Amino acid sequence: MAQYKSLVTGGAGFIGSHVVDHLLKAGHHLVVLDDLSGGFTKKLNEEAEFVKGSILDEALIEELFRKHQFDYVFHLAAYAAEGLSHFIRKFNYSNNVIGSVNLINASIKHGIKRFVFTSSIAVYGTGELPLTEQQTPNPEDPYGIAKYAVELDLKTANDMFGLDFTIFRPHNVYGERQNIGDPYRNVIGIFMNQILKGKPLTIFGNGEQSRAFSYIDDVAPFIAKSVALEQTKNQVYNIGADSPTSLNTLVYTLEKVVDKKLKIEHLPERKEVIHAYADHSKFAEAFGNNHEYTSLKNGLQQMWQWVKKNGARTSQKFEGIEIETSLPPSWKALL
Ligand code: UD1
Repeated sequence: MAQYKSLVTGGAGFIGSHVVDHLLKAGHHLVVLDDLSGGFTKKLNEEAEFVKGSILDEALIEELFRKHQFDYVFHLAAYAAEGLSHFIRKFNYSNNVIGSVNLINASIKHGIKRFVFTSSIAVYGTGELPLTEQQTPNPEDPYGIAKYAVELDLKTANDMFGLDFTIFRPHNVYGERQNIGDPYRNVIGIFMNQILKGKPLTIFGNGEQSRAFSYIDDVAPFIAKSVALEQTKNQVYNIGADSPTSLNTLVYTLEKVVDKKLKIEHLPERKEVIHAYADHSKFAEAFGNNHEYTSLKNGLQQMWQWVKKNGARTSQKFEGIEIETSLPPSWKALL
């Protein structure tokens, strides 16, 4: 008999599928709700009960909560395309805000023990570096706004109804099972797909922008573990790697991993935050600071092995772009 019963939304997706593996190891009985928009059942652990459906389907959510009486909810279902979110505003807000609120309502009604929400570093916008949880978020795109709205809603749900939560703000996560066929997001997956197809790597701008790329094993296990720690209740944590890497350095490291010189195609720069990295001392205090982070080279090596085995993916264009004005030309070309 499993100790806990939990719901994982987005459990067939990249981060979600890894969280599922860790929760199963920790003895949770799991129900995975996923609409397979970015996930694939192939990624799904067979020990989890799979339900294909949307977080916008209130009747389905009510039925699942009534039937299973969950202890915990891990909400990872999202279309996390930060750059694209400007051009799919309505889709972004319905999925990322309304979908989340449907789950929060059900969690309040059914008295679940904790709601674990995967937010994003996108809530900070151009904050002072390193980004810390003490800063007041000031999101600069619809994706970040949606994630921050849900964070605020969770705080009011806690004040009003006592629904406990833990919020994570990961950043630039990469690794095995990432959808490398998504042309709008996750530069490492995009680059690996381009390498397999023998195409040049597309760099927006001069490549001096930087991100702290975070390997999946430095993120997913802790999201799963959070409910076992009392002190993470009603707290917000940045999570992921510490050191920022420029896109140019990323390409250099990738060349070492794939062992060949890579061609570059520079595209016009995208309207985006130039540098972003976060402080993780709050995380270390709660989860222990003995965790050894995976180096970018090692993480890339592991992902590259998986990518090579699974092959290139056809780029799947997003159907339903709402606004074409100012869409980056390389995305416009996909229309
Ligand atoms: C943002 C979030 C990240 C989230 C991601 C999901 C920040 C700092 N990070 O990442 O946590 O996981 O959205 O969408 O807000 N790039 C190229 N060529 C490409 C694609 C991307 O040069 O073909 C560049 C981008 O300009 C950017 C960097 O690579 O500077 C990373 O892009 P991407 O992986 O799409 O993620 P962010 O938008 O930075």
